[in-house]
Amino acid sequence: MREPRFTPPQQRPAWQRLASLARGPLPHLRELLAQPCPQRQSRLHLEAAGIQLDATRQQVTLPVLDALNDLARESRVPEQAEAQRRGEPVNGTEGRAALHVALRGADIDSPPWGAQVSTLVRAERERFLAAAERLHRGQWPGHTGRPIAHVVNIGIGGSDLGPRMACEALSNLHGPAVRVHFVSNPDAWALYEVLRHLPADRTLFVVQSKSFTTQETMTLAASARRWLADHGCTGEAQATHLVAVTARPDLSAQEGYAPEHPFGFWDWVGGRYSVWSAIGFALAVAIGAQGFRDFLAGGHAMDRHFWDAPATSNMPLLMALLGLWNRNFLGSPTQAIAPYASRLVHFAPFVRQMDMESNGKRTHVDGSPVEIDTGPIVWGGLGIEGQHAFFQLLHQGRHRVPVDFIGVASEDTPLPLAAEHHRIVLLNMRAQAEALALGRDAEATAALLRAEGLDDTTIAALIPHRTFAGNVPSNSLWLPALTPHALGALVALYEHKVFCQAAIWGINPFDQWGVELGKTMARAMERQAAPHS
Ligand code: F6P
Repeated sequence: MREPRFTPPQQRPAWQRLASLARGPLPHLRELLAQPCPQRQSRLHLEAAGIQLDATRQQVTLPVLDALNDLARESRVPEQAEAQRRGEPVNGTEGRAALHVALRGADIDSPPWGAQVSTLVRAERERFLAAAERLHRGQWPGHTGRPIAHVVNIGIGGSDLGPRMACEALSNLHGPAVRVHFVSNPDAWALYEVLRHLPADRTLFVVQSKSFTTQETMTLAASARRWLADHGCTGEAQATHLVAVTARPDLSAQEGYAPEHPFGFWDWVGGRYSVWSAIGFALAVAIGAQGFRDFLAGGHAMDRHFWDAPATSNMPLLMALLGLWNRNFLGSPTQAIAPYASRLVHFAPFVRQMDMESNGKRTHVDGSPVEIDTGPIVWGGLGIEGQHAFFQLLHQGRHRVPVDFIGVASEDTPLPLAAEHHRIVLLNMRAQAEALALGRDAEATAALLRAEGLDDTTIAALIPHRTFAGNVPSNSLWLPALTPHALGALVALYEHKVFCQAAIWGINPFDQWGVELGKTMARAMERQAAPHS
């Protein structure tokens, strides 16, 4: 069936109904939470692939939720999701598919993307997992015969953030034989800071670059190879200390990487969506092949939910719609992510690239200019430290910043008082979400100050400074534990959320032309400087 002519989102009837609803009156979150409506509760409490979402602190009523779902339907989000998993060229400007879902669904029968893709994926997955497992077990000899004990991942953007985030998140599962390190910045100190502690004869570099042309990565790789050579590992001997992960094995071969070691992926895997491919090599080294398979299974479990769950109980779609409601109708230009587990320290930077490099666009898929807001500024950091850094602005600033709180329900740290630590951490997460939603009005503030023994004049002077408007929306996401399966489900949740928002905004989330101009200018400046240097 021919695709219908492109309709700008703001012309859709549901968009116009949402604009009307946003003009209000809209009940304050205090009111919405004080009178829990069972239907609203059930629409905003979801479970998928082991993850729990509590979205009751979003400023939405049932009419708003219905209009949001109408907008998804009018935008043909299900049909666009179907086109994506069938491997259609949904990345229109590059004429490519976007099949990262196939990387984690390669074992299913009759895959929507076709058996041929699954065969390719399985073959390459088994190849890189076998190599990673050897390293994980300390069974990869270096050029002196001593087993590799350190793996240094060299890459940037999607060739760094995904594996770095996942390795840290699953650090309780790392094997004893190998330690994994990450270097992304070509600032020499970033590499030296890692290498100065490592024994060269037991160190292997994974050079990750989809294009195998990224200047930062190639600079780091050259320095790494020089370091090996300066420590007695030269020429052919370097073959057991270098692994390339790329979509361009022709280029890695030209650079002298051993022909059996480039682990590949395909142009239909976007960098920011590539952790499921051989780009996740360092993760597989850290947690072993089975751990990596569990990570894939968690992502696939969320895929299944996204594809099969009805719109009114579809977690990625709901998160997308709530984010769009806050962005386009309640005027929030940014989205904060606040994990309450220190092992998720790299999660916000990971989602920042995924979301902002996908939806930081101003041109519709048909080439027409966008006239509405698109991707938010995604930022954040660990919530506990955030309470001592940026939560002041969230509570009393002039920005209204929706927050995604992420908690882990169970505690596995082998410390005698770990349960108490965990109680404190989760208590803070729950308290902050509640405080942002409810705030504290003048009457309650006056009572508090009076109870502190302040006189009326002082109370009157302080009230404007010590009241809290509240009404700040948030999602609370709960992982049962920090396992590969739960992490995979969480990552896929955000990938599908980003996709759904792009589908409604009518933009292409899979290209990134915006990163090109800076690179081009750098090369031009380099050429200009070259004659005199
Ligand atoms: O930031 C631009 C970008 O192309 C990202 O999309 C990508 O993840 C990163 O640079 C690294 O690219 P490559 O993997 O080709 O080195």
